[in-house]
Amino acid sequence: MTTPAHEIRLGQRHTDDAEPIRGPGQWQLLFNIPRIQRNPLAYLAFCARRYGDLVAFKAGDQPAYFVNSPSAVKHILQDNHRNYTKDTIQYRQLASITGRGLLTSDGDEWLSHRRLMQPAFHPRRMEAMSDGITRATADLIDEWRTRLGNATQVVLDIDAEMLRLALRIAGLTLFSIDLGREAPRLTQAVLVALDHIVHRASNFLALPDHIPTPRNRRFHRALATLDETVDELIAARRAGTHQPNDLLAALLNARDAETSQELSKQAIRDEVLTLLIAGHETSASALTWTWHLLSRHPHIQKALKQEIIRVIGARPVHFTDLPHLTFCRHVIDEALRLYPPAWLITRRTVDSDRLDGHAIPAGAIVIISPYILHRHPTFWHDADRFAPQRFEEEWPRHAYIPFGNGPRVCIGQHFALIETLFIVASIAQHFCFEPAEHRTVSATPLVTLRPRVGRRFGLRVQMKLCPA
Ligand code: HEM
Repeated sequence: MTTPAHEIRLGQRHTDDAEPIRGPGQWQLLFNIPRIQRNPLAYLAFCARRYGDLVAFKAGDQPAYFVNSPSAVKHILQDNHRNYTKDTIQYRQLASITGRGLLTSDGDEWLSHRRLMQPAFHPRRMEAMSDGITRATADLIDEWRTRLGNATQVVLDIDAEMLRLALRIAGLTLFSIDLGREAPRLTQAVLVALDHIVHRASNFLALPDHIPTPRNRRFHRALATLDETVDELIAARRAGTHQPNDLLAALLNARDAETSQELSKQAIRDEVLTLLIAGHETSASALTWTWHLLSRHPHIQKALKQEIIRVIGARPVHFTDLPHLTFCRHVIDEALRLYPPAWLITRRTVDSDRLDGHAIPAGAIVIISPYILHRHPTFWHDADRFAPQRFEEEWPRHAYIPFGNGPRVCIGQHFALIETLFIVASIAQHFCFEPAEHRTVSATPLVTLRPRVGRRFGLRVQMKLCPA
C-alpha cells in the first residue's frame, strides 16, 4: 500500500538550514503593494505557487513568513502554541471593535475567560441552544413562503438573508434576546466596522480614526450602534426578573477565584461584542457559500434533497436527525474547505523557533491562510472542485483548519456545525436555488470571505419552492 501524500509531508523534516527561505525581495514587495492591497489572498496564492510552503517577506525590519505546510501550521497552532501570540495587525485592528475579547486577548486573561465560557459551548449544551436555531429558521422559511406568494420564483440576496438569520440566532442562543427587528441595522453596522478595519490595515495613508473624514465618521457611528446594543442588552438583563441560564449570565455572574471580583463592565462588553460578531459573521459566510455552491451544482443539490427526503421526509427537521445527514454534513465541510470564512490567521513569535527545519526569529509575524492550505495541490486532489464526497474518505486533517487548531481553536465550532447543518437541511427541504446571474462571484478577503459580483457585495440567487 502506498503512503498518502499528506503523511509523507507531515513526517518530513528539513534539517538543512543552508537552504534559505525563498520569497519576494524588498523591492519586489514594494512594487507589489497595489496588488497586495487589491487582493491579499490572490497574492498569497501566487507566493505559494512561486516560492513553496514557507515564504519569507522582508518588509523593513519586520520579518514575516507565510506558512502553508500542514506540519508547520500544526506546530504553530498546536504543538508550540505558547510561542505564538496574537500581537499582530489583524488582531490589533479587530480589537479596535471588540476590545480585548476572547478572539483578540492573550495569556492569562484569555485563559481565564476561555475557561469561563467553554462550558456553555460543550456539545452537551447544544440541545439547550436548539430552540433559538429552530425558531429563527422556521420564521425565515415562513417569511420566504409569504414573499413567494403565488410566484414560482423570487430573487434573494442570500448573503443578507443569512447574516440576518445568523445574527438572530446568536442573540437568541447566546444572550436570550431577539434581535430580529434590529438585525438589518446591526449587520450593517458590523459590516461597516469590519470594512473600516480592513481599509485601515491595508492603507498606510489612511487618516487616523480621530480625524472626522466621512469614512471615520461612519466607523464611529457603527461602533456607537454596536455599543448601544450591548449596553441595552446588559441593562435589560440586570433590570429583568427573568434570568436565563445563558452565556450572558455566565459573564455577569463570573467571580475571580482569588479576589471574588466581578468582570469589569468593559470586559463584559468586549466578550459580548466578540461573541455577537464572531458568532454570526462566520456562520453566515459559511451558509452563503454553501448556497452559492449548491446553486451552481444542481446534481449535488439534488443528492442533498434526496438524503433529506430519505432521512426526514416532509416532517420538520429535528436535532436528533443531524447525525444521519451525512451527505449534508459533507456539503458543509466542503463549502468550508473551498470558502473558509476565516481565511487568515496570524501570530507573532515570542522566541525564535524552527518551522519545518528552518530558523524563524523572535518577534516575527507568521501568516496562515486556511483558504490557500485547503486548496494545496499536494493534499487535495482536484483542489478547486466542489466535491463533497471527498469527505466520505479519510482526509488530510492538518491541511483542513476552517476552525483553526490547538487551544485557540474556535470556541463556537460545534455550535456552528450544528447550526449550519440544521439550517441547510431545513431550507433545502422546502426550497431550491439557482444562480440569479451568471457573472463570476469572487471571494473577497475582508475580515471574513465575502461574495462580490462586480463592485457589489452580496449574492443574488433565484429561490423556488421545492417541497419534499
Ligand atoms: C462557520 C463558522 C465559524 C468559523 C469558520 C469560525 C472560525 C474560527 C477560527 C478559524 C478561529 C481561530 C482564529 C485563530 O486561531 O486566530 C475562531 C476563533 C473563535 N471563534 Fe469562531 N468560527 C465560526 C463560528 C463561531 C461561532 C458560532 C462563535 C460563537 C458563538 C465563534 C466564536 C469564536 C471565538 C470567541 C473565537 C476565539 C477563541 C479563542 O481564541 O479562544 N465562532 N473561529
